[in-house]
Amino acid sequence: MEKDVARVVISEKQIKEKLVELSNTLINTYQNKEWTIIAILNGSLVFLADLIRHIPFSIRLDTIDASSYGDSTISKGEVNIIHNFKIDIEGKHVLVIDDIVDTGNTLKKVLADIKKYAPASLKSCVLLSRSGRRQNKIKPDYCCFNVGDDFVVGYGLDYNNKYRNLPYIAVLKDECYRRNGCP
Ligand code: PRP
Ligand code: MG
Repeated sequence: MEKDVARVVISEKQIKEKLVELSNTLINTYQNKEWTIIAILNGSLVFLADLIRHIPFSIRLDTIDASSYGDSTISKGEVNIIHNFKIDIEGKHVLVIDDIVDTGNTLKKVLADIKKYAPASLKSCVLLSRSGRRQNKIKPDYCCFNVGDDFVVGYGLDYNNKYRNLPYIAVLKDECYRRNGCP
């Protein structure tokens, strides 16, 4: 796996430090509230798992399965909600978590859907933002890092459903982005 990496863009250490900072901000914002996290599958899984273990009080947690990319590096522009969250969020303080906001189509669709369930508040939190390709005015309330136009993988982000388990954010070698990916 690591042999496919051309360069590390955000290191494991940088991510760990940022998560401490982010969790302290979130603790201040959401303590004493009925805080509900809705994480967007699959990309948010690693970020979510590491982040919530910094939270010293109980949270409510559910997931929503949304997909836009398919097996490509280019967004299809349409977002499918494959499986919706199950818990009651009416009157709750909801934070949507995802790995990356790119075109913004996924986050826009998910936030619009969740709003219909009348949460007390609704905010979003992403590990990465790639603002160069945004197709709407979506701006996450909390964002850990900005990235450039390179297609990045790791820490939850995939290419052809691989590399999600890299502990850092990286760019792959050119040959890995060809049709069949690296062997
Ligand atoms: C990726 C990523 C975000 C979304 C961002 O998910 O995890 O959810 O695309 O792109 P956008 O801002 O252009 O909509 P993807 O649909 O590839 O599914 P995955 O999370 O299962 O990898
Ligand atoms: Mg996703």
